[in-house]
Amino acid sequence: MNQIYNFSAGPAMLPKEVLIKAKKEFCDWNGMGVSIMEISHRSEAFIEVVKQAEENLRELLKIPDNYKILFCHGGARGQFAALPLNLFNPNETVDYVISGYWSKSAAHEALKYCIVNKINILIEKSEHLSVQPINQWSLTNNSKYIHYCPNETIDGIAINSLPNFSNNKIVLADYSSAILSAPLDVNRFGVIYAGTQKNIGPSGITLVIIRNDLLYCEKANRKIIPSILNYNILDKNHSMYNTPSTFAWYLSGMVFKWLKKQGGLLEMKKRNQEKSKLLYDTIDNSSLYINKINPINRSSINIPFKIKKSNLDKIFIKSAEQKGLLFLKGHHSTGGLRASIYNAMPIDGVKKLINFMKDFEYQNK
Ligand SMILES: Cc1ncc(COP(=O)(O)O)c(C=O)c1O
Repeated sequence: MNQIYNFSAGPAMLPKEVLIKAKKEFCDWNGMGVSIMEISHRSEAFIEVVKQAEENLRELLKIPDNYKILFCHGGARGQFAALPLNLFNPNETVDYVISGYWSKSAAHEALKYCIVNKINILIEKSEHLSVQPINQWSLTNNSKYIHYCPNETIDGIAINSLPNFSNNKIVLADYSSAILSAPLDVNRFGVIYAGTQKNIGPSGITLVIIRNDLLYCEKANRKIIPSILNYNILDKNHSMYNTPSTFAWYLSGMVFKWLKKQGGLLEMKKRNQEKSKLLYDTIDNSSLYINKINPINRSSINIPFKIKKSNLDKIFIKSAEQKGLLFLKGHHSTGGLRASIYNAMPIDGVKKLINFMKDFEYQNK
């Protein structure tokens, strides 16, 4: 059978090994004669799944003890509202760094709840797109918090160095597409959040890694916060204030185990760098494809590119599909093409894509 590789930005490819294990135990989990989807989230057996998932995530990301992990509903977009509701006062100015579609969307949502200082860090010059280095971001002095998105899933822009502000700013980061792709110094952040549907598991859970002092800051008790978004309530209820997405939790836990078996996040970083280098080299050495992002601001996970000759996108996508290379269409807001190569994408998938791209270029000279 033609080997299929899935380049979707999310919900995205999951490790084959994990899928096979889930399939094996689909109807009879843990010898119970029922599937994991059919048991109570409060049962001992499921609580053990939750415990292990949290332990393994803590180990992978080296999450310090003064941080809590919440497994939330509502996706990353839910967090666009939850963060301001839990942390900011309505008359407070908060710095929102804009580096692409998702950071812009987060800032837009926050406008409902606080005064947003938008800091546009994109520099666009003819065929080149780059972002200002962190030390040039024009932050407001009176803003306690700064929000940014280290990896713009749609635009393929990454802020590859970690913020280190001298004036004790509390950094809030949307890690939806970059979480677990490389080691991360959690200590640098007040809150890290990420939807599971890209580099972790299926859709249905949003991880929130939050420093304890923020979790229990006085604003967290404000009556206006819907209970389901209230970090304080979620924590007190062990992320089970309402019925959680148990299947997503179980599968995410399996992916954490898989990551540990693969060698952890340093190994993931190495593999992701290797895969993305192969793909960017192919694009840069071709006369048909283009990615106009400055190499130091390129994502090693979501790689958008365009075909210089017009009207070839559809043919490219269709021919790729016939070869088993799926979901290479760019986001509707940008057009063009995009290859998302999360942890689960093996290097062979990237090599197959590269060979296809080279053949396609040869045929369309
Ligand atoms: C960086 C980033 N932030 C936010 C979102 C929105 O996530 P959700 O659909 O889970 O709300 C996405 C989804 O693609 C994303 O990539």
